[in-house]
Amino acid sequence: MKPVRVVSVIALQVVMMGTAHADEVLRREAVALFGQVKGGAASSPQAELGRALFWDTRASLDGKTACASCHPARDWGADRRRYSTDARGALTSRHSPTIFNSMTQPTLRWLGDRKSGADQAESSLTGSMGFATKEAGVAKLAELEYLGRFRAAYPEDAEPLSAANYARALASYQATLTTPAPFDRFLGGDDGALTERQKAGLKTFVSTGCAGCHSGVNLGGTMFQKFGLTRDYWLETGSDKPDVGRFAVTRKEEDRYVFRVPMLRNVAKTGPYFHDGSVERLDTAVRIMAKVQLGRTLDDAAVTSIVSFLESLTGEVPSNYAPPGRKPEM
Ligand code: HEC
Ligand code: HEC
Repeated sequence: MKPVRVVSVIALQVVMMGTAHADEVLRREAVALFGQVKGGAASSPQAELGRALFWDTRASLDGKTACASCHPARDWGADRRRYSTDARGALTSRHSPTIFNSMTQPTLRWLGDRKSGADQAESSLTGSMGFATKEAGVAKLAELEYLGRFRAAYPEDAEPLSAANYARALASYQATLTTPAPFDRFLGGDDGALTERQKAGLKTFVSTGCAGCHSGVNLGGTMFQKFGLTRDYWLETGSDKPDVGRFAVTRKEEDRYVFRVPMLRNVAKTGPYFHDGSVERLDTAVRIMAKVQLGRTLDDAAVTSIVSFLESLTGEVPSNYAPPGRKPEM
């Protein structure tokens, strides 16, 4: 009896060392491919001001719409509605993506038509927030007695209450909103942070070719690609008109149906999927991606393992998301 046990313990150790080695190889490959995140920005008086603005429903045309209305905490900073309603009562033309981790992307929005978080926030004044002009938005902030808070956050400025500072404050706040996830702990050296199925899913994600587009520390957000779905698909899924993508911005034929490749951090929490929110389930989105972007049909096991891997990109809603004393629900 005894010798047999010794042998089996040794065999187990060899297997475990083999696993640890395999994990190390996978980790090195993943770090080389995606890189590792640095932490989010630290809080600051500007970020604190940005948070107040982000959650203040009064600072909008209808007095009922805040940034957080379409980027609520329960949906990890995205919106579970297919389209969101803006301060003019109109539906947005695309699905609201999560703002978590979004500030390090080289461009923002589905078409990549905003250069930075500040650029995005400044144009929200006359976009989602509904004001006729930026000046009208700034006047509303003055009426809400924001001047003192802007002065405290931007003491050097002769005119602290401005659209530019509104935008800067919102960008500073959003830069603090990062969501480290089990995947990051794995990259940092913790073999147990991912389940075996998630490790297999990571390998499948890479070997299938997903990482070719969903690249960088956020697994996306860095490049533009044609979305391979056809016009018929869009009509079938109830989009009233097919979205021409980046063509709308550049007017170049090669940009027709081209979109920014979205980040996949927290993707298990941020459905429905795609720019038109046309797909409810993550496994369906994964199957469609393999088919239309890579011309591959994945079997159920491959889809399940990729979905498990994507779940390892889910972090916590940042504890500083909602202002103190305020329920994070919108
Ligand atoms: C009416 C709903 C609505 C409101 C209000 C709203 N957003 Fe959004 N947000 C969206 C939608 C929809 C998109 C995607 C638009 C597109 O790409 O065409 C978006 C995109 C973004 C993005 C880009 C994220 C990325 O990864 O590219 C950021 C950042 C953002 N919003 C921040 C804000 C801020 C800050 C405010 C307040 C000033 C705000 N949003 C108000 C719906 C909203
Ligand atoms: C050729 C580039 C490319 C490849 C390869 C690719 N994707 Fe995508 N992916 C995109 C683009 C572009 C979109 C945005 C499509 C849209 O909605 O317009 C997207 C969207 C997604 C979404 C929806 C995200 C959201 O927030 O709505 C998921 C999930 C996804 N991809 C997963 C995958 C997986 C898994 C693979 C591998 C099987 C993969 N992708 C391969 C370019 C690519």
